[in-house]
Amino acid sequence: MATNNGTPERIIVGITGASGVIYGIRALELLAEAGIETHLVISKAAELTMTYETDFRAADLRERASKWYAPADIGAAISSGSFRTKGMLIVPCSVRSMSEIATGITSSLISRAADVVLKERRRLVLGVRETPLHGGHLRTLVQLSDMGAIIAPIVPAFYSKPQTIADIVDHTVARMLDLFDIETGVVKRWKDQPQQES
Ligand SMILES: Cc1cc2nc3c(=O)[nH]c(=O)nc-3n(C[C@H](O)[C@H](O)[C@H](O)COP(=O)(O)O)c2cc1C
Repeated sequence: MATNNGTPERIIVGITGASGVIYGIRALELLAEAGIETHLVISKAAELTMTYETDFRAADLRERASKWYAPADIGAAISSGSFRTKGMLIVPCSVRSMSEIATGITSSLISRAADVVLKERRRLVLGVRETPLHGGHLRTLVQLSDMGAIIAPIVPAFYSKPQTIADIVDHTVARMLDLFDIETGVVKRWKDQPQQES
């Protein structure tokens, strides 16, 4: 798929060390199915949490991406605003990474790419995952929202009557991709279905 200036439709996907790496994996799969080019960065901590939470390894995720970069590769294409993208999705997004983005310090490729997306006024969606949150976390989230990021915490919805964990993950990820106007076909939209007899 290409934009009207000929650039392929592409999204940067950051996967950090918060719980819920499965959301990032599913995002890569749904984006590939939607024909969107993905540019993936996995943090070192995410490689560790992945081994605790799933049977996947970083190589399995890289296979699902169009292109991937090492987190220390601050010279990668996605570290420049001249490289056109639809924006960046970070899911799961750790408190550490969100805090780094909020300060603009950007010591890794994930936070640098996110900072670039913000400065270019492109879409940055943060699937933040931590609970409970203290006032410092909440203030950081407000700061990020004021800077233009969309805070989309990983919080399940039950109105879609999920039957499996995969249903919950799909709905959450697909609603995040809605924020980029990407139709995945997996969202059960409220009142969009024929009414059932009760
Ligand atoms: C099993 C496991 C689960 C974790 N879950 C979370 C979490 O839900 N949220 C969070 O902010 N950090 C979580 N952490 C801690 C982060 O991995 C840690 O703060 C790390 O430095 C984040 O680095 P990154 O943002 O570069 O990925 C978890 C760590 C482990 C090992």
